Amino acid sequence: MQKMDKLYEGKAKKLYATDDPDVLWVEYMNQATAGNGAKKAQIEGKGSLNNRITSVLFDLLKARGVDSHFIKRISDTEQLVRSMDMYPLEIIMRNTAAGSFAKRYGVEEGTKLNRPILEFCYKSDELGDPFINDDGIVALGLASDGELAEISKQARAVNDALLDIFSKIDVQLVDFKIEEGRTSDGTILLADEITPDTCRLWDLKDGSGQIEHLDKDLFRRDLGNIIPAYEEIYDRLTALAEQE
Ligand code: C5P
Repeated sequence: MQKMDKLYEGKAKKLYATDDPDVLWVEYMNQATAGNGAKKAQIEGKGSLNNRITSVLFDLLKARGVDSHFIKRISDTEQLVRSMDMYPLEIIMRNTAAGSFAKRYGVEEGTKLNRPILEFCYKSDELGDPFINDDGIVALGLASDGELAEISKQARAVNDALLDIFSKIDVQLVDFKIEEGRTSDGTILLADEITPDTCRLWDLKDGSGQIEHLDKDLFRRDLGNIIPAYEEIYDRLTALAEQE
């Protein structure tokens, strides 16, 4: 497989074409951003950790019947994925109130929700990724009714599988963001990444009653270094994968 032209550079990843039109080469970077790029830092080791974490997670999901664009990890910071036509949506699942949800509805962070909540945001840096509902998505032509039904079904299946995975490593899956796309043959699939950058993960081992963040809120809220937390997630996931 040969790495070809750079197609896209996002906040945390670079995407390259390969000699196979159905395969992309992804490079995870050390850049961390928050607040739609308002806060930025280079954090040594982050790219490698996220590349390794998302690779293990995609494999653990596959073992639970959840397919994704992931093909294989090819180095510490790189992986091959299937090329997808992405939906311009941030697909958010919440199990516990936190972040923008807690703020929007005046709910205390950590409040368990009676059922998981699926939310969508329209992916647009210019507009600051505004909230959008199902009708808005279809009305603007971002996805058809049928596609949206499939995306929603997959998001709930990802949540069920991730809840199982994280409960086995003593981590509370508070919420997360995924993205979905369509392959050249029209298959709708989970894409992008699943990492502590895109999930809220609280340590259940701690037992102090205090929220122990093992995710990007450490960076967003200036609570501490993300690297030991991401390493902890990687080590626990790897131990689970070896056990399975
Ligand atoms: O900020 P908010 O509470 O809406 O975030 C919900 C979840 O989505 C969090 O796990 C956060 O890490 C993730 N998210 C993301 N990328 C964004 C916005 C949110 O990964 N642009």
